[in-house]
Amino acid sequence: MPDILFSHPSYKNKTVYATAGSHTETVLQIARENKIPINFKCQDGKCGKCLVKVTSLADKERMAGPLTDKERSVLVELGKLTQEQIDTMLVDDFPCEWRLACQIIVRDEDLMVEY
Ligand code: FES
Repeated sequence: MPDILFSHPSYKNKTVYATAGSHTETVLQIARENKIPINFKCQDGKCGKCLVKVTSLADKERMAGPLTDKERSVLVELGKLTQEQIDTMLVDDFPCEWRLACQIIVRDEDLMVEY
């Protein structure tokens, strides 16, 4: 099961060991269950309040996760994703470093989530 290191400049880092069944949970749900104060509002990929930066803690390259259309548009609106990056992600299976915590489903990789 993957480890998720939640990091914020004003709070102590916290590592959460994702448990069985977490592959159906979003990073926001896991954060809330573990009392990690990630901002959120809609929980539906529309408001952009839960913006986080995601990097892999594993030696291997990050797994790309598909962005939904609404997540993609919010990230573009927030200036965190360009059309060129979208094109690269689609062709090269390139993961986006900026994500919405309410839209990321945990996969089998250790992550750092900066919020
Ligand atoms: Fe609104 Fe995630 S809480 S986009």
